[in-house]
Amino acid sequence: MCGITACAGSTPALPFLMQGLEKLEYRGYDSAGVTLVSGQGLTTVKAKGRLATLAASMEGGRWPQTTGIGHTRWATHGVPSNLNSHPHVNETETIAIVHNGIIENHRPIREFLEDAGYHFHSETDSEVIVHMLDYYYRGDMLEAVRKTVRYLDGSFALCAVCTDFPDTVYTARKDSPMVLGQTEQASLCASDIPALLAYTRDIVAMEDRQIAVLKPDGIRLYDFDGKPVQPVWLHVDYDVQAAQKGGFDTFMEKEMHEQPYVLSETLRGRIFQEDVNMPELDFLDMHDMKAVYFIACGTAWHAGLYAQYLFRKWIPVPCFCIPASEFRYGDYPLGPDTLCLFISQSGETADTLAALKEAKKAGAPCVSVTNVLGSSLARQSDAALYTCAGPEIAVASTKAYTTQLVLLAAIVLKLADLYGALVPDRRRLVQDLARMPRVAQDMLEAVPDGISHGAEALKDRHDAYFIGRQLDYVSVLEGALKLKEISYIHADAYYAGELKHGPIALIEEGTVVIALATQPEVAAKTISNIQETMARGADVTLITGQSQNAEGFQDVIRIPDVHPYLAVIPVTILLQRLAFEAAEKRGCDVDKPRNLAKSVTVE
Ligand code: G6P
Repeated sequence: MCGITACAGSTPALPFLMQGLEKLEYRGYDSAGVTLVSGQGLTTVKAKGRLATLAASMEGGRWPQTTGIGHTRWATHGVPSNLNSHPHVNETETIAIVHNGIIENHRPIREFLEDAGYHFHSETDSEVIVHMLDYYYRGDMLEAVRKTVRYLDGSFALCAVCTDFPDTVYTARKDSPMVLGQTEQASLCASDIPALLAYTRDIVAMEDRQIAVLKPDGIRLYDFDGKPVQPVWLHVDYDVQAAQKGGFDTFMEKEMHEQPYVLSETLRGRIFQEDVNMPELDFLDMHDMKAVYFIACGTAWHAGLYAQYLFRKWIPVPCFCIPASEFRYGDYPLGPDTLCLFISQSGETADTLAALKEAKKAGAPCVSVTNVLGSSLARQSDAALYTCAGPEIAVASTKAYTTQLVLLAAIVLKLADLYGALVPDRRRLVQDLARMPRVAQDMLEAVPDGISHGAEALKDRHDAYFIGRQLDYVSVLEGALKLKEISYIHADAYYAGELKHGPIALIEEGTVVIALATQPEVAAKTISNIQETMARGADVTLITGQSQNAEGFQDVIRIPDVHPYLAVIPVTILLQRLAFEAAEKRGCDVDKPRNLAKSVTVE
């Protein structure tokens, strides 16, 4: 997610812009830039990489300008580079803009502007904004901003400066955040409150479809029709770190709560009625494929297991999901007729990249699913598909995983289409896929008592057992991993039917068992397996569907009625919460668990 800072003041703007961008670093970024404005012109400096690189490239310069805009870019359209980084400037170098969000209709706008004689210098969707402003500018910037925003579809928070008004910043927002602040010397704005807190604690959170005009002596607010709006000032009394966490105590909790939004961002434009829109995969001839491999590490490997399950249900081609660290030594047949699909939040995991190298050497078509545009994995694959989870800061993956699940469901549907395979109950599946953001919201809004009970029961235990069959087995693997990672409780994930072949020897009075029975095909059998553990004194929490008979169970959590192949989403959100609450009760640092790294770049 990009970060924006802007200042219209009576003292130099640069110190505010830079400290603000630093405070927004938590949002993740791959390049940064600033534009300072005066009556003499614009001065723009950009750098790929960290803010320190930008600061170093400005060292020794004189920066007395009192108005300016700054930006940290988290690439969405076009790889991280100096050209793609913001601010973007019009051809006469009189207007500059920064943008956060996605302009969905940037292609037709770009075509229109190119026909009108404009030249583009970047691959970004954002650049259309500056040329549109130029197109509409007739001496009144506010009017140009109003006309421009009317044509932008998608989400945006943007700031613009113009050399004809060197003391003014124009800002507008729709579906992307922007906050305003005022000091005696300046009017300020930024993507998030932490950037302002060193200067002021009185802020205005802009509403959707508003434009603000910032001058050193004050801020004016308008709606998109140009009607003045009275700003609503709020006093903020929390500290910077707390502000970065958006009111939550930990990044993990914040990221869990971002799931409804990022799920809808990931699915945006991908499904329409029963159809999947994924032209990136059209180059594949599925009939040529002798085998398909899903390859990944950690939580992403669990996402691969989910995809493998769906694939085997629908497409009659052998399909395997293999941990990347095993893949290269596993002597798997590889060649132009084996499709390799790599899954990685960061796109930089060493084992996954090493597996990709092997696959490429053998001439296998390689597709990647990653959360980071321009990551090594995305660059080296034949096709890259992106989850839109935004930066994930907590080490334990939450929103990155659920976005992988929904994207993989769409990917496997697309592979089925390419093969010509029939997907039973397709309409319901696709409709329910589109409902997943809402379902996630419901799961987060009302945490079932059973979860808190389960967390309380786990608090003083040394171990726990997660059991399930078929797709539920994927969820128990992820649930057990989450618990291990952040609470340091030993957790085993078992196929429910396998329990009696060994692990049941460990079940005794009070042993915590988290049992999943959401798959109608096998739920009754799982229930019998659970009863076997209860007969030995296990403290069971059962997670199941709405209509499953759960007589005799004390702690039953029922998930919403969704297609069984999508039960994995609500179940995962519940198990994330369970691990989170157990870890909190044990006083663990949930964001930075011991011995773990967010991105593992060694094999
Ligand atoms: C680390 C993280 C895990 C993650 C795994 C794979 O082990 O702690 O949360 O699932 O790496 O990371 P990737 O970026 O490839 O998805």
